[in-house]
Amino acid sequence: MDGGGEWHGLDDPKLDPVLAYPSGDRRHLEGVRRDLRRVGVEGIMSFGGNSIGSFWVLGKGWVGIVCLGSAGGRRIALKVRRTDADRPNMLNEAKMHAHANSVGVGPRLLGQTESVLVMDYVNGLPIIRWLDVPNGQEAGAVRGMVSDLLDQCFRLDRAGLDHGELSNSKKHVLVKQGGRPVIIDFESASASRTVRNVVAMTGYIFCKGTVGNALRRYFEWDEFRLRRRLKEYKEGRSAENYEGLRETVGLGRSRL
Ligand SMILES: Nc1ncnc2c1ncn2[C@@H]1O[C@H](COP(=O)(O)OP(=O)(O)O)[C@@H](O)[C@H]1O
Ligand SMILES: [Mg+2]
Repeated sequence: MDGGGEWHGLDDPKLDPVLAYPSGDRRHLEGVRRDLRRVGVEGIMSFGGNSIGSFWVLGKGWVGIVCLGSAGGRRIALKVRRTDADRPNMLNEAKMHAHANSVGVGPRLLGQTESVLVMDYVNGLPIIRWLDVPNGQEAGAVRGMVSDLLDQCFRLDRAGLDHGELSNSKKHVLVKQGGRPVIIDFESASASRTVRNVVAMTGYIFCKGTVGNALRRYFEWDEFRLRRRLKEYKEGRSAENYEGLRETVGLGRSRL
């Protein structure tokens, strides 16, 4: 991650291409600036691992551009709706995000408007990059991270909220330095679909190439048994079936 480190006040024209990405539409830009003021954002820093022109941002998704900002004197992340997003506003995402927060999942949502979401800044790395340190992470930290992540997914399942994009969690989980995983991006979440969080996350972590291979040194599991337990869990998302699933990969009881 690099970049800049300079703060820009909201009126700084250097922010224009970031706040109205990609078209530069003036009306969109005015709306975003108005919304940023309304939620108390004071400034934006050129910082992160992605860029828009010469400006660094934390992330570029299909719906939003995420940058580091300040509000009330603290660092926050803000997600600004893209001009070409396939939805008219961020309000449904805000609702899903708040629902996730109510069961202790996701960065804390601090503010919401039609075009901007403000949330805690997560200083973390995608799972695979977090695992990929020279001598590997400490075993206890990895096991704790996976345990916590599955618990978060089970809490989402119980709350009836399906994240929708956890089967490829490359970009949707950030792991903080101490090993705390944070699930992000509730834009595809739904409270009216079959919940697949635990199943999708287990598949991503244990049954897919890169992460699965990296985890072999920390966990032992039998693919066949795991698939059977997953099937049982799909048929009945009970605490008992969830604990059974954990047991198959050698994790102790959950800490819900
Ligand atoms: N709260 C946050 N703290 C730090 N980085 C974030 C945060 N939220 C999102 N990001 C970064 O921004 C990227 C895009 O955000 P995301 O919510 O996935 O947007 P989209 O819905 O457009 O896909 C993420 O992959 C991540 O790297
Ligand atoms: Mg995304």
